[in-house]
Amino acid sequence: MKAACALVCFALAQGITANIFKRSHRPTDGLIVQPLDYINQYQQQLYQPQEQTYQEYIQQLKQQQKKQQKPQYYGSSSHESSQQDSKEWNNNEQQKYVTLRSSGQKWDKPLFTAIMKVQNDVVEPSAYGQNIMWSRDIQMPLKQKHHELPTVAQQQELKKIFAEAQESMKHPTSEEKVQLNQVFAAAAQVHNEDDHLNATELLKKYKYPVEEHEIKTEDGYYLTLFHIPPMKLIRDVTKKPVVFLMHGLLGSADDWLLMGPGKSLAYLLSDAGYDVWLGNARGNKYSRRHVSKHPAMNDFWQFSNDEVALQDLPAMIDYALETSAQQKLYYVGHSQGTTAFFALTASKPEYNDKIIMMYALAPMVYMKHARSPLIRMIAPTSPFEQSLHHEIGHGEFNPSQELIATVGGQMLWNEIGSKNVSSNVNFVMSGVNIDSVTPELTPVIMRHVPAGTSTRVIKQYGQQVTGDDFRKYDFGPAINQKVYGSVEAPKYDMQNVKAPVTLYYAEEDWLASPVDVTRLQQVLPTPVTAYKVPEPHFSHLDFQFSTKAPELVYKQLIESMNNA
Ligand SMILES: *[C@@H]1O[C@H](CO)[C@@H](O)[C@H](O)[C@H]1NC(C)=O
Ligand SMILES: *[C@@H]1O[C@H](CO)[C@@H](O)[C@H](O)[C@H]1NC(C)=O
Repeated sequence: MKAACALVCFALAQGITANIFKRSHRPTDGLIVQPLDYINQYQQQLYQPQEQTYQEYIQQLKQQQKKQQKPQYYGSSSHESSQQDSKEWNNNEQQKYVTLRSSGQKWDKPLFTAIMKVQNDVVEPSAYGQNIMWSRDIQMPLKQKHHELPTVAQQQELKKIFAEAQESMKHPTSEEKVQLNQVFAAAAQVHNEDDHLNATELLKKYKYPVEEHEIKTEDGYYLTLFHIPPMKLIRDVTKKPVVFLMHGLLGSADDWLLMGPGKSLAYLLSDAGYDVWLGNARGNKYSRRHVSKHPAMNDFWQFSNDEVALQDLPAMIDYALETSAQQKLYYVGHSQGTTAFFALTASKPEYNDKIIMMYALAPMVYMKHARSPLIRMIAPTSPFEQSLHHEIGHGEFNPSQELIATVGGQMLWNEIGSKNVSSNVNFVMSGVNIDSVTPELTPVIMRHVPAGTSTRVIKQYGQQVTGDDFRKYDFGPAINQKVYGSVEAPKYDMQNVKAPVTLYYAEEDWLASPVDVTRLQQVLPTPVTAYKVPEPHFSHLDFQFSTKAPELVYKQLIESMNNA
């Protein structure tokens, strides 16, 4: 038993398991190169700018591939490759302290690492693994040997980013922090069955009818849709329209269910007699299948919100309408579910005609005033962008605990005192409202999110922070030229969004700031109602998880549907 563990642990440490996993799922006859792979690898080159035509680059890439001969994932047996791996490990000084990540990314260039300790005016480097505070409430994880100090500019920028995020949240007193933590620790011990139930199981448990549907997009992704058909009694009276619910960033269909019946929106809508469909964007836990790509490989993850909007949404909307035999539906989107909606209706105006009303909860279109540290740090003009870009890689967005701590987890931990919440990337990215941190519910939420997306989706939001407009994914000038035929990524034409829209937003939302929401309201060509949640610290995630959401948001939303 022990020996087996030692072996497994050793393999894990060497990052071999990941390779074994990949190998066993890959065809052995070589790599099917997708055009986007080239784009992606080319993109990496952009960070060592060089004058080169696309053809030259492809040529170079082919030569590199020939040279490498046996790529890591195929060919050699696991025994050979483990020897080879450990040889490389020893030979290469650099790799000795490289950490292998679950995403297969290597931590070989942290944001910055050693933070100096100043004692009696003597600056001494800190030991590996130590956390040193260098401002009131910012700590950085340390890494041996990478003595890459944050520059003064970086320190200032970080302070600014964190300070602005902190301004937009409620701060507990130190007694409250202690209480919060105690309640939390107790709650974590309580076994809640909902922790591990998927959407179907949740709905069944609470006696709601449910169907699972799997559909295929034009570009080969399989997506799962959950359908809560109208209950019989109500159906006999009048047939109410379809409501399509689209989850937020790093979320899934589960998010509309986790608070349980009588509270979460999906249940409330079903209770009100609507025909409810729950979507899942590609890459989340319910939509991780493709005709030829495997999620263990980066090529599966070469998508941004553009693909979610232009491939996933139309496929899901059309399928729901057809299956329920309806012409139009209500669309309720949260966060990413709004981004995708506006990109779709701007690009394929015919979809406007399929929408009775769009309810946008925490709409993320214009992002200039976003306060999420993670999204701001990944923005193209941020001094951290390069190392973050390198760190999070080009595949699935699967940040390490170290990275989560660095991009706001540590700050959040200092603010609210709960390490548990502060280690979950959804909370770190979206902010926490301590008033709505519910001991029974939060552990359940944390078991269901993050539900998975691509790094490109995250980077695109960063681009929305820097850019003034709502645009397609920016590959950088050279590739934009190839992909879009223009140096800049094209703008989404918001004048095409003719569907009726209602916006819901909150003052302290880290991702959908009121200024940006107001801009969206003004840009849309039709009259738009914007509804500000009357609760001072309502957060981005509160739209789905606050026990006050039914009263403050859903009630009004359902009444508006009923009165339409
Ligand atoms: C966080 O909560 C989970 C259960 O909800 C528990 O297993 C884990 O140990 C907790 N982690 C910390 C750091 O408290
Ligand atoms: C949900 O769980 C049930 C029971 O384990 C399983 O049969 C079903 O396939 C799961 N659904 C999805 C979409 O994962």
